[in-house]
Amino acid sequence: MCGIVGYVGSKNAVPILLNGLDKLEYRGYDSAGLYIMNNRNEGFVFKAKGRINALREEIDPSVQASVGIGHTRWATHGEPSAINAHPHQSFSQRFTLVHNGVIENYQEIKEQYLDETLLLSDTDTEIIVHMLAYFSEKEHLPTLDALRQTLSLLKGSYAIALIDESQPGTIFAAKNKSPLLLGKGEGFNVICSDAMAMIKETNQFVELMDKEIAIVTKDELIIENANGDSLSRDAYTAEFDSEDLEKGAYPYYMAKEIDEQPAVLRRVVQAYQTQEGNLHVDQVIVDAMLQSDRLYIIAAGTSYHAGLVGKRLFEQLSGIPTEVHVASEFGYHMPILSNNPFFIFISQSGETADSRQVLVSVNEKNYPSLTITNAVGSTLSRESTFTLLLHAGPEIAVASTKAYTAQISVMAILSEVIGLEKGVITESTMKHNLSTAAVAIQSIIESKELIEDLASKQLSLTDHAFFIGRGLDHLVALEAALKLKEISYIHTEGFAAGELKHGTIALIEKGTPIIAFVTEKTTAGHTRGNVQETIARGANTVIISMDGLSRPEDHVIIPEVHPLLTPLVSVIPAQLLAYYASLHRGNDVDKPRNLAKSVTVE
Ligand code: M6R
Repeated sequence: MCGIVGYVGSKNAVPILLNGLDKLEYRGYDSAGLYIMNNRNEGFVFKAKGRINALREEIDPSVQASVGIGHTRWATHGEPSAINAHPHQSFSQRFTLVHNGVIENYQEIKEQYLDETLLLSDTDTEIIVHMLAYFSEKEHLPTLDALRQTLSLLKGSYAIALIDESQPGTIFAAKNKSPLLLGKGEGFNVICSDAMAMIKETNQFVELMDKEIAIVTKDELIIENANGDSLSRDAYTAEFDSEDLEKGAYPYYMAKEIDEQPAVLRRVVQAYQTQEGNLHVDQVIVDAMLQSDRLYIIAAGTSYHAGLVGKRLFEQLSGIPTEVHVASEFGYHMPILSNNPFFIFISQSGETADSRQVLVSVNEKNYPSLTITNAVGSTLSRESTFTLLLHAGPEIAVASTKAYTAQISVMAILSEVIGLEKGVITESTMKHNLSTAAVAIQSIIESKELIEDLASKQLSLTDHAFFIGRGLDHLVALEAALKLKEISYIHTEGFAAGELKHGTIALIEKGTPIIAFVTEKTTAGHTRGNVQETIARGANTVIISMDGLSRPEDHVIIPEVHPLLTPLVSVIPAQLLAYYASLHRGNDVDKPRNLAKSVTVE
């Protein structure tokens, strides 16, 4: 969480930094700040609680700067406030620093070195600047050595950008576990948590690796390892279609991203096919998975829900037993593994700390792994053995939509390719199945007014809602509930429909919305029976069913698709219900309270 940017060059740094922070707001948006130095080497700090626009209002428009650093925050230690917002400064104001990550031992460092110091903020970050001051002012170390000494004390994760007032025109940067990129320009250089933040300035980026330090001036990018040895690393070209980063005519990114899903499915198919049009996945990945006796899918949130669907695909199409685990649980409570485990990390951002901590121990044990991600060059992608990309384009709304459908599509292709090679299945139908699903998704999107109407009738005022279903419908119910609760703030749960009568039905009262998915032939009758049980207790029900199983009184009817791909389509009305519920309740759909897009702390 949190996003950081830095610029050094000859243009005015202020608009560049603010624009960069706008692009990083998805990483956290409870407070923000800037430190800039003008051409007379005078430093200015601006901070504000709230969004980047609140920070904009704080900035003296007459201030021009050629160097600066900025931060947008998702609070971990200390409430969102201007005081806790970054940058933080040493008391002499010589050192100014922004930080993304969590310093786990900040209390111990404070007790050992800064016992007498009255800290201004409640953050874990502030001790870093005071330790820099301690080593440089008390122990007279040069800045770089003071930084090295300070970093050697830190336990936890950090991406930091530091300006030493006595060395104007230089930004020092360092990282451990949290991402940080260095961007190269002609006569300027930048740093950022994500290339998106600086893509307007440059598309040439160099990754900083864990425990490295960068010294960034307008003409040079110097990278050193922890011992101070210089390293050379080539830049890569970041490829973004700048239109992908804009909302265009849409009021919210989420609306745009929901609408993009048919195109995303088609793009996924295109990306995983040969010139002859056959579905194809890199043979080394297929071979590694064929050698495995059990797949372990590790993920969080929506990606975990996609993983649950993936299990059905891998077991039924590839014939490989598959387990799905919540990353934050698996890392510290690892079950007994099979003889030849193969790990699959699913992560839109590729930066989720919970998943990364599992990958670190998977790597220690030398198990092969695959990351399925939307983010080229992300931490999980770099650190796992193999990567498959989602090709979904940047997903900016906190509520994940197109990543979910892309994740399922990639796993559908992968499972079919493996199944064909293994002889579990004999016919390739997935390309056709996915294109049928894309058409079905489009038809639901085209009837979004109907879903808006349902949201306004059922979800405008309620405090609780329940999604139910069986089999794959149950898995979609879990995702539907997450989507609705995170952006509407309605307390929502997803249940296996058959479980209702084992406890949850006690919560049903007059008017409680129950949204049921009915897309599975074998269990449709049972789910409808469960719906009746809730109606008998006063629930307001909405039924989302599939053509062929639908009844005239059902509310949303999705076109028939391959039975393993129903989640791709049945999730769309759920995404739209969540979107409209949030909109009608007056929430910020894209930036729900307390959340951030990329969860980079455990
Ligand atoms: O980037 P990841 O896919 O690893 O993120 C995992 C979750 O944090 C994410 O899916 C989260 O649950 C979304 N806000 C759900 O909409």
